[in-house]
Amino acid sequence: MHHFIYKDNQLFCESVAIADIAEAVGTPFYLYSHATLTHHFNTFDKSFGELPHLTCFAVKSCSNLAILRLFSTLGGGADIVSGGELYRSMKAGIDPRRIIYSGVGKTEDELRYGLVSGILMFNIESEQELEKLQEIAREQEMVAPVSFRINPDVDPKTHAYISTGLAKNKFGIPIDQAEKIYLRAKEMEHIRILGVSCHIGSQLTDISPFTEALHKVKLFVNRLETLGISIDYLDLGGGLGVRYQDEKPPHPQEYARALSEEMEGLKCTLILEPGRVIVGNAGILVSQVIYTKRTQAKNFIIVDAAMNDLARPSLYDAHHDILPVIRKAGQAEEVLETADVVGPICETGDFLAKDRQVTVFEQGDLVAVMSSGAYGFTMSSNYNSRPRAAEVLVKDDQFFIIRNRENYETLIRDENIPDFLE
Ligand code: LLP
Repeated sequence: MHHFIYKDNQLFCESVAIADIAEAVGTPFYLYSHATLTHHFNTFDKSFGELPHLTCFAVKSCSNLAILRLFSTLGGGADIVSGGELYRSMKAGIDPRRIIYSGVGKTEDELRYGLVSGILMFNIESEQELEKLQEIAREQEMVAPVSFRINPDVDPKTHAYISTGLAKNKFGIPIDQAEKIYLRAKEMEHIRILGVSCHIGSQLTDISPFTEALHKVKLFVNRLETLGISIDYLDLGGGLGVRYQDEKPPHPQEYARALSEEMEGLKCTLILEPGRVIVGNAGILVSQVIYTKRTQAKNFIIVDAAMNDLARPSLYDAHHDILPVIRKAGQAEEVLETADVVGPICETGDFLAKDRQVTVFEQGDLVAVMSSGAYGFTMSSNYNSRPRAAEVLVKDDQFFIIRNRENYETLIRDENIPDFLE
Protein backbone atom coordinates (compact mmCIF):
# COMPACT_ATOMS: atom_id res chain seq x y z
CA MET A 1 0.00 0.00 0.00
CA HIS A 2 1.28 3.46 -0.78
CA HIS A 3 -0.01 6.99 -0.76
CA PHE A 4 0.83 8.22 -4.26
CA ILE A 5 -2.53 8.44 -5.96
CA TYR A 6 -4.34 10.42 -8.62
CA LYS A 7 -7.17 12.71 -7.68
CA ASP A 8 -8.86 14.39 -10.64
CA ASN A 9 -5.93 13.56 -12.89
CA GLN A 10 -3.39 15.10 -10.52
CA LEU A 11 -0.86 12.92 -8.74
CA PHE A 12 -0.92 13.45 -4.99
CA CYS A 13 1.34 12.33 -2.21
CA GLU A 14 -1.04 11.89 0.72
CA SER A 15 -3.04 15.14 0.64
CA VAL A 16 -0.50 17.28 -1.18
CA ALA A 17 -0.54 17.85 -4.94
CA ILE A 18 2.92 16.96 -6.19
CA ALA A 19 2.78 19.78 -8.73
CA ASP A 20 2.53 22.25 -5.83
CA ILE A 21 5.71 20.86 -4.29
CA ALA A 22 7.49 21.10 -7.64
CA GLU A 23 6.39 24.72 -7.89
CA ALA A 24 7.81 25.51 -4.45
CA VAL A 25 10.97 23.36 -4.44
CA GLY A 26 11.93 23.08 -8.11
CA THR A 27 12.95 19.82 -9.78
CA PRO A 28 14.32 17.19 -9.52
CA PHE A 29 13.47 16.08 -6.00
CA TYR A 30 12.91 12.89 -4.07
CA LEU A 31 9.56 12.73 -2.36
CA TYR A 32 8.67 10.39 0.50
CA SER A 33 5.33 9.69 2.12
CA HIS A 34 5.33 9.61 5.91
CA ALA A 35 2.19 7.46 6.01
CA THR A 36 3.70 4.89 3.63
CA LEU A 37 7.01 4.75 5.50
CA THR A 38 5.19 4.28 8.78
CA HIS A 39 2.82 1.70 7.37
CA HIS A 40 5.62 -0.31 5.77
CA PHE A 41 7.80 -0.26 8.86
CA ASN A 42 4.97 -1.26 11.17
CA THR A 43 3.63 -3.95 8.84
CA PHE A 44 7.06 -5.52 8.61
CA ASP A 45 7.91 -5.25 12.28
CA LYS A 46 4.54 -6.38 13.54
CA SER A 47 4.48 -9.36 11.18
CA PHE A 48 6.93 -11.06 13.52
CA GLY A 49 4.45 -10.67 16.37
CA GLU A 50 5.59 -12.24 19.61
CA LEU A 51 8.76 -13.73 18.16
CA PRO A 52 11.68 -11.97 19.90
CA HIS A 53 13.09 -9.82 17.14
CA LEU A 54 14.72 -6.54 16.27
CA THR A 55 14.13 -4.69 13.01
CA CYS A 56 17.35 -2.92 12.04
CA PHE A 57 16.61 -0.73 9.03
CA ALA A 58 19.31 -0.96 6.32
CA VAL A 59 20.53 2.64 6.32
CA LYS A 60 22.21 2.30 2.93
CA SER A 61 18.83 2.09 1.23
CA CYS A 62 17.66 5.54 2.38
CA SER A 63 19.67 7.43 4.91
CA ASN A 64 18.10 10.84 5.38
CA LEU A 65 18.16 11.90 9.05
CA ALA A 66 14.43 12.60 9.15
CA ILE A 67 13.61 9.13 7.86
CA LEU A 68 16.00 7.46 10.28
CA ARG A 69 14.45 9.49 13.08
CA LEU A 70 11.01 8.29 12.05
CA PHE A 71 12.08 4.63 12.21
CA SER A 72 13.74 5.19 15.55
CA THR A 73 10.46 6.56 16.94
CA LEU A 74 8.76 3.41 15.65
CA GLY A 75 11.19 1.26 17.64
CA GLY A 76 13.62 0.45 14.85
CA GLY A 77 17.33 -0.08 15.01
CA ALA A 78 19.84 0.32 12.20
CA ASP A 79 21.98 -1.91 10.02
CA ILE A 80 25.00 0.17 9.08
CA VAL A 81 28.01 -0.41 6.84
CA SER A 82 30.23 2.59 7.45
CA GLY A 83 31.34 5.15 9.99
CA GLY A 84 29.23 7.69 8.13
CA GLU A 85 26.11 5.58 8.56
CA LEU A 86 26.89 5.15 12.25
CA TYR A 87 27.28 8.89 12.62
CA ARG A 88 23.99 9.71 10.92
CA SER A 89 22.11 6.93 12.71
CA MET A 90 23.16 8.24 16.09
CA LYS A 91 22.48 11.85 15.05
CA ALA A 92 18.99 10.69 14.11
CA GLY A 93 18.52 9.36 17.61
CA ILE A 94 18.83 5.62 17.01
CA ASP A 95 19.94 3.88 20.19
CA PRO A 96 23.44 2.41 19.58
CA ARG A 97 22.30 -0.74 21.37
CA ARG A 98 20.04 -1.26 18.38
CA ILE A 99 22.78 -0.81 15.80
CA ILE A 100 24.39 -3.67 13.88
CA TYR A 101 27.55 -3.02 11.91
CA SER A 102 27.87 -5.11 8.71
CA GLY A 103 30.35 -4.93 5.82
CA VAL A 104 33.47 -6.68 4.48
CA GLY A 105 35.89 -3.80 4.85
CA LYS A 106 35.50 -1.94 8.13
CA THR A 107 38.60 0.15 8.73
CA GLU A 108 40.42 0.39 12.03
CA ASP A 109 38.91 3.82 12.70
CA GLU A 110 35.45 2.55 11.92
CA LEU A 111 35.83 -0.46 14.22
CA ARG A 112 36.99 1.82 17.03
CA TYR A 113 34.15 4.25 16.43
CA GLY A 114 31.59 1.43 16.59
CA LEU A 115 33.13 -0.01 19.71
CA VAL A 116 33.29 3.18 21.72
CA SER A 117 29.78 4.09 20.59
CA GLY A 118 28.44 0.95 22.26
CA ILE A 119 26.72 -0.65 19.27
CA LEU A 120 24.88 -3.94 19.70
CA MET A 121 27.35 -5.92 17.59
CA PHE A 122 29.72 -6.16 14.68
CA ASN A 123 29.01 -8.68 11.95
CA ILE A 124 32.56 -9.85 11.34
CA GLU A 125 33.38 -11.09 7.86
CA SER A 126 36.98 -12.35 8.06
CA GLU A 127 39.57 -13.64 10.46
CA GLN A 128 41.76 -10.59 9.92
CA GLU A 129 38.87 -8.35 10.88
CA LEU A 130 38.40 -10.35 14.07
CA GLU A 131 42.08 -10.00 14.98
CA LYS A 132 41.93 -6.28 14.30
CA LEU A 133 38.86 -5.82 16.46
CA GLN A 134 40.40 -7.79 19.32
CA GLU A 135 43.47 -5.53 19.13
CA ILE A 136 41.35 -2.39 19.21
CA ALA A 137 39.19 -3.68 22.06
CA ARG A 138 42.30 -4.50 24.08
CA GLU A 139 43.70 -1.03 23.52
CA GLN A 140 40.35 0.46 24.59
CA GLU A 141 40.08 -1.95 27.54
CA MET A 142 36.69 -3.03 26.29
CA VAL A 143 35.00 -6.22 25.14
CA ALA A 144 33.69 -6.16 21.58
CA PRO A 145 30.34 -7.86 20.88
CA VAL A 146 30.44 -9.87 17.67
CA SER A 147 28.56 -12.08 15.35
CA PHE A 148 30.09 -13.70 12.27
CA ARG A 149 28.57 -13.37 8.87
CA ILE A 150 28.25 -16.78 7.37
CA ASN A 151 28.13 -17.25 3.63
CA PRO A 152 25.63 -20.10 3.32
CA ASP A 153 26.09 -20.61 -0.44
CA VAL A 154 22.45 -20.18 -1.32
CA ASP A 155 21.30 -18.81 -4.67
CA PRO A 156 18.94 -15.87 -4.03
CA LYS A 157 17.80 -15.87 -7.69
CA THR A 158 18.13 -12.14 -8.11
CA HIS A 159 20.30 -9.78 -10.19
CA ALA A 160 23.95 -10.90 -10.13
CA TYR A 161 25.13 -7.52 -8.81
CA ILE A 162 22.94 -7.81 -5.73
CA SER A 163 23.49 -11.49 -4.91
CA THR A 164 25.68 -11.82 -1.87
CA GLY A 165 25.20 -15.30 -0.42
CA LEU A 166 26.91 -17.41 -3.06
CA ALA A 167 30.30 -19.00 -2.36
CA LYS A 168 31.82 -16.92 -5.17
CA ASN A 169 30.67 -13.62 -3.61
CA LYS A 170 33.07 -11.60 -1.48
CA PHE A 171 30.77 -11.64 1.53
CA GLY A 172 30.91 -13.56 4.76
CA ILE A 173 32.86 -16.57 5.92
CA PRO A 174 32.30 -19.87 4.11
CA ILE A 175 30.13 -21.99 6.34
CA ASP A 176 32.73 -24.78 6.43
CA GLN A 177 35.39 -22.41 7.79
CA ALA A 178 33.14 -20.74 10.30
CA GLU A 179 33.53 -23.19 13.16
CA LYS A 180 37.24 -22.55 13.33
CA ILE A 181 36.77 -18.82 13.61
CA TYR A 182 34.16 -19.17 16.37
CA LEU A 183 36.56 -21.36 18.34
CA ARG A 184 39.29 -18.78 17.86
CA ALA A 185 36.98 -15.97 19.00
CA LYS A 186 35.95 -17.95 22.06
CA GLU A 187 39.53 -17.81 23.28
CA MET A 188 39.80 -14.06 22.84
CA GLU A 189 39.66 -12.02 25.99
CA HIS A 190 38.30 -8.88 24.36
CA ILE A 191 35.71 -10.53 22.15
CA ARG A 192 32.26 -11.63 23.16
CA ILE A 193 30.36 -13.88 20.80
CA LEU A 194 26.73 -12.84 20.52
CA GLY A 195 25.42 -14.13 17.25
CA VAL A 196 25.47 -15.57 13.78
CA SER A 197 24.48 -13.52 10.77
CA CYS A 198 23.91 -13.90 7.06
CA HIS A 199 22.52 -11.85 4.19
CA ILE A 200 22.08 -13.56 0.85
CA GLY A 201 20.99 -10.82 -1.51
CA SER A 202 18.51 -8.12 -2.34
CA GLN A 203 15.19 -7.87 -4.19
CA LEU A 204 14.30 -11.51 -3.52
CA THR A 205 10.83 -12.37 -4.71
CA ASP A 206 10.83 -15.94 -3.52
CA ILE A 207 10.82 -17.13 0.09
CA SER A 208 12.67 -20.40 -0.35
CA PRO A 209 16.24 -18.98 -0.49
CA PHE A 210 15.58 -17.26 2.86
CA THR A 211 14.33 -20.41 4.54
CA GLU A 212 17.12 -22.43 2.97
CA ALA A 213 19.72 -20.01 4.36
CA LEU A 214 18.01 -19.87 7.74
CA HIS A 215 17.92 -23.65 7.89
CA LYS A 216 21.66 -23.87 7.24
CA VAL A 217 22.37 -21.21 9.84
CA LYS A 218 20.13 -22.96 12.34
CA LEU A 219 22.04 -26.23 11.95
CA PHE A 220 25.21 -24.26 12.44
CA VAL A 221 23.87 -22.62 15.62
CA ASN A 222 23.02 -26.07 16.98
CA ARG A 223 26.50 -27.25 16.14
CA LEU A 224 27.99 -24.26 18.00
CA GLU A 225 25.91 -25.16 21.06
CA THR A 226 27.58 -28.56 21.15
CA LEU A 227 30.93 -26.75 21.16
CA GLY A 228 29.85 -24.73 24.17
CA ILE A 229 29.19 -21.56 22.21
CA SER A 230 25.74 -20.17 22.79
CA ILE A 231 24.16 -17.76 20.39
CA ASP A 232 21.82 -14.96 21.48
CA TYR A 233 21.12 -13.36 18.12
CA LEU A 234 20.45 -14.78 14.71
CA ASP A 235 20.66 -12.07 12.06
CA LEU A 236 19.11 -13.02 8.73
CA GLY A 237 19.92 -9.74 6.95
CA GLY A 238 17.55 -8.01 4.57
CA GLY A 239 16.59 -8.71 0.99
CA LEU A 240 12.82 -8.98 0.76
CA GLY A 241 11.79 -7.68 -2.65
CA VAL A 242 9.16 -5.19 -3.73
CA ARG A 243 6.98 -4.71 -6.76
CA TYR A 244 8.53 -2.40 -9.35
CA GLN A 245 6.63 -3.73 -12.34
CA ASP A 246 4.98 -7.13 -12.24
CA GLU A 247 7.01 -8.93 -9.59
CA LYS A 248 5.01 -10.75 -6.97
CA PRO A 249 7.11 -10.64 -3.83
CA PRO A 250 5.77 -12.37 -0.74
CA HIS A 251 3.96 -10.20 1.77
CA PRO A 252 6.03 -9.50 4.90
CA GLN A 253 3.51 -11.58 6.86
CA GLU A 254 4.18 -14.57 4.65
CA TYR A 255 7.91 -14.02 5.00
CA ALA A 256 7.62 -13.66 8.78
CA ARG A 257 5.51 -16.79 9.04
CA ALA A 258 8.05 -18.87 7.11
CA LEU A 259 10.96 -17.56 9.16
CA SER A 260 9.13 -17.98 12.46
CA GLU A 261 8.46 -21.64 11.62
CA GLU A 262 12.11 -22.19 10.84
CA MET A 263 13.11 -20.45 14.10
CA GLU A 264 11.13 -23.04 16.05
CA GLY A 265 13.25 -24.53 18.80
CA LEU A 266 15.89 -21.79 18.71
CA LYS A 267 16.20 -19.52 21.71
CA CYS A 268 17.74 -16.60 19.84
CA THR A 269 16.42 -13.14 19.09
CA LEU A 270 15.92 -12.76 15.35
CA ILE A 271 17.46 -9.69 13.75
CA LEU A 272 16.23 -8.43 10.41
CA GLU A 273 17.85 -5.80 8.22
CA PRO A 274 15.18 -4.73 5.74
CA GLY A 275 15.80 -1.77 3.47
CA ARG A 276 13.97 -1.84 0.16
CA VAL A 277 10.75 -3.40 1.44
CA ILE A 278 10.29 -0.49 3.84
CA VAL A 279 11.28 2.47 1.67
CA GLY A 280 11.24 1.31 -1.97
CA ASN A 281 7.62 2.16 -2.68
CA ALA A 282 7.48 4.96 -0.13
CA GLY A 283 9.46 7.35 -2.32
CA ILE A 284 9.46 8.70 -5.87
CA LEU A 285 11.69 10.96 -7.92
CA VAL A 286 9.99 13.97 -9.46
CA SER A 287 11.50 15.54 -12.55
CA GLN A 288 10.51 17.90 -15.33
CA VAL A 289 10.71 17.51 -19.09
CA ILE A 290 13.30 19.92 -20.47
CA TYR A 291 12.92 18.99 -24.14
CA THR A 292 11.41 16.33 -26.32
CA LYS A 293 13.14 15.05 -29.41
CA ARG A 294 11.26 12.81 -31.79
CA THR A 295 13.44 11.27 -34.48
CA GLN A 296 13.09 8.56 -37.11
CA ALA A 297 14.81 6.11 -34.83
CA LYS A 298 13.39 7.04 -31.46
CA ASN A 299 11.43 9.39 -29.30
CA PHE A 300 13.43 10.97 -26.51
CA ILE A 301 11.96 12.62 -23.45
CA ILE A 302 14.79 14.62 -21.94
CA VAL A 303 14.19 15.29 -18.27
CA ASP A 304 16.11 17.17 -15.58
CA ALA A 305 16.88 14.04 -13.51
CA ALA A 306 19.66 11.76 -14.64
CA MET A 307 21.73 8.70 -13.80
CA ASN A 308 23.54 10.71 -11.15
CA ASP A 309 20.17 11.12 -9.39
CA LEU A 310 18.86 7.59 -9.92
CA ALA A 311 21.52 5.09 -10.93
CA ARG A 312 19.40 1.93 -10.85
CA PRO A 313 18.21 1.89 -14.50
CA SER A 314 21.75 2.44 -15.84
CA LEU A 315 23.39 0.12 -13.36
CA TYR A 316 21.00 -2.81 -13.19
CA ASP A 317 18.65 -2.16 -16.08
CA ALA A 318 16.07 -1.68 -13.35
CA HIS A 319 12.47 -0.86 -14.18
CA HIS A 320 10.80 2.16 -12.61
CA ASP A 321 7.33 3.17 -13.75
CA ILE A 322 7.23 6.63 -15.31
CA LEU A 323 3.98 8.48 -14.70
CA PRO A 324 2.72 11.96 -15.52
CA VAL A 325 2.22 14.16 -12.45
CA ILE A 326 -0.70 15.75 -14.28
CA ARG A 327 -2.68 13.57 -16.63
CA LYS A 328 -3.90 15.29 -19.75
CA ALA A 329 -7.48 16.10 -18.93
CA GLY A 330 -10.26 15.69 -21.41
CA GLN A 331 -8.76 12.65 -23.12
CA ALA A 332 -11.01 9.64 -22.97
CA GLU A 333 -8.04 7.35 -23.14
CA GLU A 334 -4.45 8.12 -22.28
CA VAL A 335 -2.38 8.48 -25.45
CA LEU A 336 0.87 6.56 -25.28
CA GLU A 337 4.06 6.47 -27.28
CA THR A 338 7.24 4.45 -27.08
CA ALA A 339 10.12 6.57 -25.87
CA ASP A 340 13.39 6.68 -24.00
CA VAL A 341 13.24 8.85 -20.91
CA VAL A 342 16.75 10.22 -20.58
CA GLY A 343 18.73 12.69 -18.51
CA PRO A 344 21.12 15.45 -19.54
CA ILE A 345 24.31 13.51 -18.75
CA CYS A 346 26.80 12.95 -21.53
CA GLU A 347 26.55 9.17 -21.63
CA THR A 348 24.37 6.87 -23.66
CA GLY A 349 23.84 4.87 -20.48
CA ASP A 350 22.05 7.83 -18.94
CA PHE A 351 18.42 6.79 -19.05
CA LEU A 352 15.56 6.34 -16.63
CA ALA A 353 13.51 4.20 -19.01
CA LYS A 354 14.22 2.68 -22.39
CA ASP A 355 11.81 1.80 -25.19
CA ARG A 356 9.01 2.33 -22.75
CA GLN A 357 5.32 2.94 -23.43
CA VAL A 358 4.73 6.26 -21.72
CA THR A 359 2.27 9.09 -21.84
CA VAL A 360 3.01 11.59 -24.60
CA PHE A 361 5.04 14.04 -22.55
CA GLU A 362 5.56 17.62 -23.63
CA GLN A 363 8.13 20.21 -22.69
CA GLY A 364 7.55 21.43 -19.12
CA ASP A 365 5.52 18.40 -18.01
CA LEU A 366 6.29 16.89 -14.63
CA VAL A 367 7.33 13.27 -14.52
CA ALA A 368 7.13 10.89 -11.55
CA VAL A 369 9.70 8.10 -11.44
CA MET A 370 8.01 5.61 -9.17
CA SER A 371 9.40 3.20 -6.55
CA SER A 372 12.57 5.24 -6.08
CA GLY A 373 12.67 5.37 -2.28
CA ALA A 374 15.32 2.66 -1.91
CA TYR A 375 18.82 3.06 -3.32
CA GLY A 376 17.70 6.25 -5.02
CA PHE A 377 19.07 9.32 -3.32
CA THR A 378 21.66 7.27 -1.41
CA MET A 379 23.32 6.17 -4.64
CA SER A 380 23.24 9.61 -6.23
CA SER A 381 26.39 11.47 -7.15
CA ASN A 382 27.60 14.78 -8.50
CA TYR A 383 28.63 13.40 -11.89
CA ASN A 384 28.69 16.11 -14.56
CA SER A 385 28.87 18.56 -11.64
CA ARG A 386 25.19 18.26 -11.07
CA PRO A 387 24.05 19.43 -7.63
CA ARG A 388 22.18 16.61 -5.95
CA ALA A 389 18.40 16.73 -5.74
CA ALA A 390 16.37 17.94 -2.77
CA GLU A 391 14.53 15.47 -0.56
CA VAL A 392 11.00 16.22 0.61
CA LEU A 393 8.79 14.44 3.13
CA VAL A 394 5.02 14.69 3.02
CA LYS A 395 2.89 14.20 6.09
CA ASP A 396 -0.86 14.52 5.58
CA ASP A 397 -1.38 17.92 3.95
CA GLN A 398 2.06 19.34 4.63
CA PHE A 399 5.47 18.94 3.09
CA PHE A 400 8.91 19.40 4.59
CA ILE A 401 12.25 19.81 2.84
CA ILE A 402 14.39 17.22 4.59
CA ARG A 403 17.45 17.86 2.45
CA ASN A 404 18.14 21.08 0.64
CA ARG A 405 18.99 20.94 -3.01
CA GLU A 406 22.72 21.25 -3.43
CA ASN A 407 24.01 24.30 -5.25
CA TYR A 408 27.14 25.39 -7.11
CA GLU A 409 28.76 26.56 -3.91
CA THR A 410 28.28 23.20 -2.16
CA LEU A 411 29.66 21.46 -5.23
CA ILE A 412 33.12 22.99 -4.86
CA ARG A 413 33.09 23.66 -1.10
CA ASP A 414 35.68 20.99 -0.26
CA GLU A 415 38.06 21.54 -3.14
CA ASN A 416 41.37 23.41 -2.88
CA ILE A 417 43.69 24.93 -5.44
CA PRO A 418 47.28 24.41 -4.19
CA ASP A 419 49.45 27.50 -3.80
CA PHE A 420 51.72 26.61 -6.71
CA LEU A 421 48.77 27.04 -9.06
CA GLU A 422 47.70 30.37 -7.62
N1 LLP B 1 21.88 -6.16 5.10
C1 LLP B 1 23.01 -6.24 4.38
C2 LLP B 1 24.20 -6.82 4.99
C3 LLP B 1 23.02 -5.77 3.05
O1 LLP B 1 24.13 -5.87 2.35
C4 LLP B 1 21.84 -5.22 2.48
C5 LLP B 1 21.83 -4.71 1.12
C6 LLP B 1 20.70 -5.14 3.29
C7 LLP B 1 20.75 -5.64 4.59
C8 LLP B 1 19.41 -4.57 2.81
O2 LLP B 1 18.87 -5.25 1.73
P1 LLP B 1 17.39 -4.91 1.21
O3 LLP B 1 16.41 -5.30 2.27
O4 LLP B 1 17.32 -3.46 0.90
O5 LLP B 1 17.27 -5.75 -0.02
N2 LLP B 1 21.78 -0.98 -4.83
C9 LLP B 1 21.04 -2.19 -5.08
C10 LLP B 1 20.80 -2.98 -3.81
C11 LLP B 1 22.07 -3.32 -3.04
C12 LLP B 1 21.80 -4.04 -1.77
C13 LLP B 1 23.02 -4.13 -0.94
N3 LLP B 1 22.84 -4.72 0.34
C14 LLP B 1 19.75 -1.82 -5.78
O6 LLP B 1 19.51 -0.64 -6.03
O7 LLP B 1 18.97 -2.70 -6.14
